[in-house]
This record gives sequence, structure tokens and C-alpha cells, in this order.
Amino acid sequence: MASNSFRSQIHLGVIIILIIITLLTPITTYNTSPQPWNILSHNDFAGKLTTASSSIESAATDFGHVTKIFPSAVLNPSSVEDITDLVKLSYDSQPSFTLAARGHGHSHRGQASAKDGVVVNMRSMVNRDRGIKVSRTGLYADVDAAWLWIEVLNKTLELGLTPVSWTDYLYLTVGGTLSNAGISGQTFRYGPQITNVQEMDVITGKGEIATCSKYMNSDLFFAALGGLGQFGIITRARIKLEVAPKRAKWFRFLSHPPS
Ligand SMILES: Cc1cc2nc3c(=O)[nH]c(=O)nc-3n(C[C@H](O)[C@H](O)[C@H](O)COP(=O)(O)OP(=O)(O)OC[C@H]3O[C@@H](n4cnc5c(N)ncnc54)[C@H](O)[C@@H]3O)c2cc1C
Ligand SMILES: *[C@@H]1O[C@H](CO)[C@@H](O)[C@H](O)[C@H]1NC(C)=O
Repeated sequence: MASNSFRSQIHLGVIIILIIITLLTPITTYNTSPQPWNILSHNDFAGKLTTASSSIESAATDFGHVTKIFPSAVLNPSSVEDITDLVKLSYDSQPSFTLAARGHGHSHRGQASAKDGVVVNMRSMVNRDRGIKVSRTGLYADVDAAWLWIEVLNKTLELGLTPVSWTDYLYLTVGGTLSNAGISGQTFRYGPQITNVQEMDVITGKGEIATCSKYMNSDLFFAALGGLGQFGIITRARIKLEVAPKRAKWFRFLSHPPS
């Protein structure tokens, strides 16, 4: 008897819980479903925020072709302000939406993706007429983060200068490799690219632009370097240069693994 009424109490409890879940379900779904937000009609982004399937599709994959992670929209910014506006909008939204900077998309496993959020296509910021300023006397270049290293090299070589530390493959963006490490044959001598940056402009999670270095906002500086875009979006980096050698000797060693 006692165990029977105990069982029916459990049944009643389960039914009540099920009713509650059923009642709550539409609300829950509403809260967690991808937000089309009102940003698509947001004036500030006129024409720069797209939901075109071709853009969504290409932002969903990367060089690795291992993952397919779909954003809701892609921003093609033409200025830093376009990005700060978007970050502020996410920061002020309830709930906020995911954002990811995408450089050249040469990640291997979706590192530059934003599930149901917005992917910021940094390459749309590249303007051929500006974005790389070389200081001969200071031996540094101020570079917009969306430039490829091959473009930086070509530009500095015109003045007989070159960055000191490289990646071996140069079709990667400055912002993308500084968010990782940037490793090449020069690393053993000069350190990876992230140790050859003197200063950066970074858009913080609140949509503010902060200049940072070893001496100024150093927490942000060291977090953003190698930070996989989790601590802000790099928009400018001051890259250390040296006089480009006129000649270089290139060795290739072949070796057999011990059998
Ligand atoms: C063929 C090939 C060769 C490679 N060779 C080398 C090599 O020689 N040395 C080496 O070190 N690495 C190498 N890599 C790895 C490469 O450095 C990383 O994959 C790098 O992330 C690619 O840069 P990207 O511009 O394509 O970045 P993406 O893949 O677009 O982005 C990489 C990460 O950085 C973030 N990010 C991008 N831009 C910004 C920004 N402006 N601010 C903040 N976060 C940002 C993204 O959100 C993401 O988390 C190679 C990769 C490939 C595919
Ligand atoms: C860089 O310079 C080389 C040699 O002049 C040229 O072949 C190449 O097209 C240039 N690349 C870019 C991306 O500007």
C-alpha cells in the first residue's frame, strides 16, 4: 500500500514536471534560437552586413574543411567603426551574439567561425592606398591587421626593409597569425611573430578601441597576442623591421629516419 501511493505520487510528480516543461518549451526555444536580431535593418550597417547564402557558406568553412559552422550573417566592414558598432550592438543585446574575426580563413578547425553569430570578414577592410605605413628611422611598419604577410613584405621591400620574423607560408593575415604565434625558419633566432610586435590597436569586447603594448594596457596586449581572437579584434599592429639582406643562402637538408 505505502509503496503504491509512493509510486502514484512519483507519477503525479512526473506528469506535473512534464506539463511545466511543455508550458515552458516555447519560451525556452524562443530564448535560445538563433537571433535574427534587428541588426539586419540596422542603419549603420547599410549594405555591409549580409545574409546571402554564398557569404554564409564560405564563412562556415575554412582551409581545413573539417568543420561546418554557420553564422547568421557576415559583416564586410569598410572601416574600424563598422566593427566597433557591431561589437557594441552585441554587447548591448540580450542575449549577446557571437562574433569572430576572419582573416584569410586558413584555420583548420573552425577557429574563425561564429555559430549563429556574425563573422567579420577582415579582408574587406584592405585599402590598397593606405594601411601600411613604414618608418625607416624607427624600423617598424604600422600595418592594418587584414593585410597578408606577402603584401607587407612587398611593401617594405620597396624601401629595402623586411619584417624580422615570418611564417613560412605568406598568404596569411597579420591579425590571423598574431592571434596564433607565427612560426618560421627565423623563429629560432628572433622568436615567433608575436614577440616582434611593438604595439597594437585592439577592439575590446565592449566595442572600444584600445592601443596596447608592453607598457600600455599590457594585459590586453599579451592576451590578444596568441589569443585566437578571444580577447578582442586586432585592427593595427606595429611590426618590427630590419634592413633586408641583399642575398640569402637557402639550405635544404634531407635526412632518412633511423630504420
Ligand atoms: C597552407 C598553410 C600554411 C601555414 N603556414 C604556417 C607557417 O608557416 N607558420 C605558422 O605559424 N602558421 C602557419 N599556418 C597556420 C596559420 O598561421 C594559422 O592558421 C592562421 O590562423 C591563419 O591566418 P588567417 O589570416 O587565415 O587566420 P584565420 O584562420 O582567418 O583566423 C585565425 C584565428 O585568428 C582570429 N583572428 C583573425 N583575424 C583576427 C584579428 N584581426 N583580430 C583578432 N583575431 C583574429 C580568428 O578569429 C581565428 O581564431 C599555415 C596554415 C596554412 C593553411
Ligand atoms: C609580391 O611581389 C612579387 C614579386 O614582385 C609578385 O610576384 C607578387 O605578385 C606580389 N604579391 C602580392 C600579393 O602583391
